[in-house]
Amino acid sequence: MDLKSIENIVSLCKRRGFIFQSSEIYGGIGSTWDYGPLGTEMKKRIKDDWWQSIVTKRSNVVGMDSSILMHPKVWEASGHVSNFHDPMVDCKKCKSRYRSDHINLEKPCKKCGNTDWTEPRQFNLMFQTTIGPINEEGNITYLRPETAQGIFVNFNNVQTTARQKIPFGIAQIGKAFRNEITTGNFLFRTREFEQMEMEYFIHPDESSRWLDFWNQERLDWFLRLGIKKNKLRLRAHGKDELAHYSSACYDVEYEFPFGWSELEGIADRGTYDLDQHNEFTKKKLSYFDPKTNRRFTPAVVETSAGVDRTFLTCLVDAYTEEEVRGENRTLLKLSPKIAPTTCAVFPLVNKNGLPELAEKIVEETRKQFSSFFDQGGSIGRRYRRQDEAGTPFGVTVDHETIENGTVTLRERDSMKQIRISQDKICEAINEKIIS
Ligand code: GLY
Repeated sequence: MDLKSIENIVSLCKRRGFIFQSSEIYGGIGSTWDYGPLGTEMKKRIKDDWWQSIVTKRSNVVGMDSSILMHPKVWEASGHVSNFHDPMVDCKKCKSRYRSDHINLEKPCKKCGNTDWTEPRQFNLMFQTTIGPINEEGNITYLRPETAQGIFVNFNNVQTTARQKIPFGIAQIGKAFRNEITTGNFLFRTREFEQMEMEYFIHPDESSRWLDFWNQERLDWFLRLGIKKNKLRLRAHGKDELAHYSSACYDVEYEFPFGWSELEGIADRGTYDLDQHNEFTKKKLSYFDPKTNRRFTPAVVETSAGVDRTFLTCLVDAYTEEEVRGENRTLLKLSPKIAPTTCAVFPLVNKNGLPELAEKIVEETRKQFSSFFDQGGSIGRRYRRQDEAGTPFGVTVDHETIENGTVTLRERDSMKQIRISQDKICEAINEKIIS
């Protein structure tokens, strides 16, 4: 897949209602995107699947939902005020701005060809805001750059109320904000994004074992979403890439048309965050081990995935163009687990009571999964629309349905159709989803 395909995906997303440019009628605002009806459904399914696999299925991981605005001292303690920056340079001629670690300063500016750069300087990535109407010192805070700190500062609250014993995790999904110097590649690098994070609290001697464990779990999750195995890899961070809080980190990466890029970081944060909050607040964020009768500060292995990056990965991985009987077909081979619509129901023709029958089937199947009624245009066009929307199953109601109660069930990828009784639609689809 080439970079052109990303452009094709952007236009499919707009055409089918997955993603729109934010504030489009005002001319848009750079690198901010709105999820439309299909995109919202799919994003929700990705988040639900993550929650299911991280929280619901484990008795030792609990969820929380902390606020975006936090006490400004949190960000001093966490190290983000002093360490969370990227190096920035400007082209002196055309004023284009770049991350100096992303370009070769020996080479000319990509936009104007000049080689006169400003000195690289550090730029803090946190978005500043003020609490209350007056912008003065003392009421400045930040939009959170990671959801993780909301978990750390609530460590005692959650551990004692949920009565968890180490090892245990606290998970949350929520928005985070980073004033990136450069953005781009559609949903990949944006200033407002959503994270799915879990902080796993462990005995400090066990970091390496849990890092291995979570690396494997998280890689497996992406595979279960249907992402191609040969497009995924785990990559260890070099020492120069580590964030200020971590001593080891692995990235789950996907091979996008613009190169291998990070979907999730799995980091050994040690006792860094709890130690820092203990020092700043003089409170004891720590764990009393009933087995040894000793209190200690737990270490943390963090799994931090990007919702929007996962969404983009699912789209890129599923996007397919093929030729069928001399005609081009574009489809999204999305896993039925995350496809926004599971089943589309079509009356073959808009007469003889077929639309009414099809609507009844939609009503019935909606009790089990998302089902959509489509009577607009030729049956071929309707199949193609649903192929582009990634709908894995199509049910067509025709004259035989009236005669003997059977319908055709079409699979998106193979386009194969079988004839089944209309009473067996849900059963047949559920079987195919599981197999
Ligand atoms: N919590 C890790 C990150 O936001 O990158």
